[in-house]
Amino acid sequence: MRILGIETSCDETGVAIYDSERGLIAHALHSQAAIHNAYGGVVPEIASRDHIRRLLPLVRNALHQAKGQANGQSNGQSNGDAPKSDDTGYGANPGIDAIAYTAGPGLAGALLVGACFARSLAFAWQVPALGIHHLEGHLLAPMLERKAPRFPFLALLVSGGHTQLVEAKGVGEYRLLGESLDDAAGEAFDKVATLLGLSYPGGPALAKLAQEGDPHRFRFPRPMTDRPGLDFSFSGLKTCALDTLRKEKRSNAKGGSDEGLRADVARAFEDAVVDTMVIKCRRALRESGLSNLIVSGGVGANLRLRASLEEMVQEEKADLHCPRIEFCTDNGAMIAYAGSRRFSPNSKTEPDIDDPNAFGIKVRWRLEDLTPP
Ligand code: KG4
Ligand code: ZN
Repeated sequence: MRILGIETSCDETGVAIYDSERGLIAHALHSQAAIHNAYGGVVPEIASRDHIRRLLPLVRNALHQAKGQANGQSNGQSNGDAPKSDDTGYGANPGIDAIAYTAGPGLAGALLVGACFARSLAFAWQVPALGIHHLEGHLLAPMLERKAPRFPFLALLVSGGHTQLVEAKGVGEYRLLGESLDDAAGEAFDKVATLLGLSYPGGPALAKLAQEGDPHRFRFPRPMTDRPGLDFSFSGLKTCALDTLRKEKRSNAKGGSDEGLRADVARAFEDAVVDTMVIKCRRALRESGLSNLIVSGGVGANLRLRASLEEMVQEEKADLHCPRIEFCTDNGAMIAYAGSRRFSPNSKTEPDIDDPNAFGIKVRWRLEDLTPP
């Protein structure tokens, strides 16, 4: 069984093909980061337009990779440039059994581009179109790796839009244990990065700057760790970073390096976020009795977070599973894989046009509302 996966929920256009016997056989990605950089964040209208421009060449590219695999060629990652010769036209179905696309949550226009595209292609090829929950994609992404987690497990989902601790008993069997009451972890990284004068997306840039920072100069609080519960709050850390920068800049007026100050604030912020997540994950493992932890979503690419969680799980005699770095941030592979777990040969091939949700996008969509396939 072969599933074509399409991700367009925010500012990455991701396309991949997952084969149930051979695993991932193609993936191609185009990041819009450089376009949105000039605006300091994602501009939804521009994001939608770019998805429209990128989808066809990316799909053609993925089909070409899959064909190369069948002919014994290697499968390199692609930046979305279309192959020169068009031997992967869209007329006949090239052996795809279903098309999985991100149906939500995300930016409405961006989701609609993916949904319309996926459903039109599915109609042409007479295969089912499967609307996938973006966070379920992140949650299942570690299963693309050789060291794949088995259910049940605890999931730390940390992206630009969400910070959640979830107990996963099986596909579609999710219980929310805790979440951020204000900013998502990635959002906090991005906002503090802006305060530090770093460009969008701020998370990776802040993590890089923090490497040069002094871990002992400032200590930011570990929010909500001094009380029971598994919820998070990160907006106070942003204020803390701003206050520290202002105060230190005033005294720095008398001397001192601005570059050093920015790196030290970045380090203090990153340490506070990482420590807070480690404390909550340790608590969740103990309270739930689970012995497998997965971390996924853009912030899951943070190396300090991965290393600290690894140390913690060893102390707790548990196991940590992470997707490879490129599959922590948004990508088509996780959507194709989630589609493979949700595909049934009985899935409908045509949407009910009287159904107002025929195009099936959900800008807001709770992970706990999913049901097993
Ligand atoms: O999962 P993702 O690609 O998109 C959403 O679903 O939101 O996550 C993007 C977020 C951004 O906020 C970005 O700054 C953050 O993940 N991020 C990082 C790192 N790489 C990406 N945050 C901290 N450290 C990183 N290395
Ligand atoms: Zn995401």
